[in-house]
Amino acid sequence: MAADKIFLIGMMGAGKTYWAQKMAKWNKCVGYDLDALIEMNEEKTIAEIFNEDGEDHFRKVEAKILRWFKEKKKFIIATGGGTPCFQENMQWMKKEGIVIWLDEPVEVLVKRVSPEKNQRPLIATLSDSQIATFIENKLVERHSFYVQAHYRLTSDQINEAGLKKIITKHVS
Ligand code: S3P
Repeated sequence: MAADKIFLIGMMGAGKTYWAQKMAKWNKCVGYDLDALIEMNEEKTIAEIFNEDGEDHFRKVEAKILRWFKEKKKFIIATGGGTPCFQENMQWMKKEGIVIWLDEPVEVLVKRVSPEKNQRPLIATLSDSQIATFIENKLVERHSFYVQAHYRLTSDQINEAGLKKIITKHVS
């Protein structure tokens, strides 16, 4: 297991992008956001890719761009909520580095994603209660992938101390 490559996984709204940036600073490496790289590569927003090209296309691009990180030596990347569940991405990430699941509860996820649901094609047309049901169902569906992570951090562990502990354990 390579020590210097860290992949953050978890549902939308789990704080992957936020924590990837923080961790990159502590670790003196670059913090990436997979969704942002996909948008740059496709010159479209995630919503446009889903609407115009479909989810299958999105998942193919997502897997392709994830694999660019084979060549990189030290980084933290925030992946998309669905990344571990397609194209054998979870197996690939686990082979390459450390995978951390940010496992926030449904109430927190809903509160965070509702205000910006227009940028999130999977929930854009849903009401708050429908978003909660959607997230609950997705968590059930995705559990068998997420649970394979090397680390699963729950709310009380998703903080500076909890994440720095993992960095110091693994990163040279
Ligand atoms: C998705 C989550 C999004 C983005 C896309 C699909 C998902 O990423 O990749 O909208 O399938 O859960 P975030 O988890 O960064 O919101």
